[in-house]
Amino acid sequence: MSLEGKVAIVTGSGRGLGLAYAQELARQGAAVVVNDVDEATAADAVASIESAGGKAVAVVAPVGPTETAKQLVQTAVDTYGRLDILVTNAGVLRDTVLWKMSDDDFDTVIGVHLRGTFTCVREAATYMRANEIPGRIICIGSPTGQRGNFGQTNYAAAKAGIVGMVRTWALELKKAGITANAVIPVAATAMTATVPYFAAAVEADEKGEAMPPFFRHDLGFGTSDDVAGLIAYLASDAAASVTGQAIGIGGDRLQLWSHPEPVATAYSDGGWSYDDLITGFADALGDLQTVGEKFPPLPEELQRPAS
Ligand SMILES: NC(=O)c1ccc[n+]([C@@H]2O[C@H](COP(=O)([O-])OP(=O)(O)OC[C@H]3O[C@@H](n4cnc5c(N)ncnc54)[C@H](O)[C@@H]3O)[C@@H](O)[C@H]2O)c1
Repeated sequence: MSLEGKVAIVTGSGRGLGLAYAQELARQGAAVVVNDVDEATAADAVASIESAGGKAVAVVAPVGPTETAKQLVQTAVDTYGRLDILVTNAGVLRDTVLWKMSDDDFDTVIGVHLRGTFTCVREAATYMRANEIPGRIICIGSPTGQRGNFGQTNYAAAKAGIVGMVRTWALELKKAGITANAVIPVAATAMTATVPYFAAAVEADEKGEAMPPFFRHDLGFGTSDDVAGLIAYLASDAAASVTGQAIGIGGDRLQLWSHPEPVATAYSDGGWSYDDLITGFADALGDLQTVGEKFPPLPEELQRPAS
């Protein structure tokens, strides 16, 4: 099933995962609006798609403000006549612990990821509804948004918020036949290359070798291309009934994340008073939930000295 005749926007697609998404959508037949803040990478991305026989145009502008969202949709319509697919992928990190995080660290990450997703999806969905296009909204989350991560207050807020918005949009856009899903990727990119735990995998990738099966299979950590197939699938007619989902992908692994549900329920006639909770909380709810990603210990042969 081809994406021929469809038009896609991929934000932050000059490099990394976004570039892989844009290239795969083009490979499957879609015309692509590439977007990045970096002019040179955006131009290279367009050239790489065109030299592979695909169609692409670049918009160099920062995702976040409404003006950029309007420019992206307008460019899709002016250049290719329509818009079917939006992938909100642009992202930045400003990692530090809560007590060192500045207002600027917080606002920058929220501005690009959360506000950028909101403004672009609002613009795209408005266009799709007005033109009766059964569009595809694909927003990028993160394991950090699902489970929390040390040093990532701003990023966790943005990524959890994105998944919350996706569930809401799946409800609001259902009648128009527009799907909205979140993809939770993990891959070797500039964003993850410096994490010591992944060093052996990044090293293999840089040498053009296959990543060790421990990373690809057990951790679901692979290349950007490993994530791209899911983006194109969700963009296709075959995924018309897939909406409101958070889908994890990386290396050899595909996962469906649960939606938050109560896992324990207890009742106290007349309500739960302070005294009832002091005496009854532990028995009422049982084992509490864990937070953060739990990585298994690295096998010895994959350990690298800290640089
Ligand atoms: N790499 C991973 O394992 C991983 C895991 C979970 C989530 N993600 C998410 O995937 C997305 C892409 O990550 P990546 O690892 O490819 O990162 P990356 O840093 O390699 O690429 C991000 C791209 O976005 C561009 N960009 C930054 N701010 C922008 C803005 N305001 N407007 C337009 N473009 C902008 C950058 O110039 C860059 O080209 C991000 O949303 C990230 O949070 C990545």
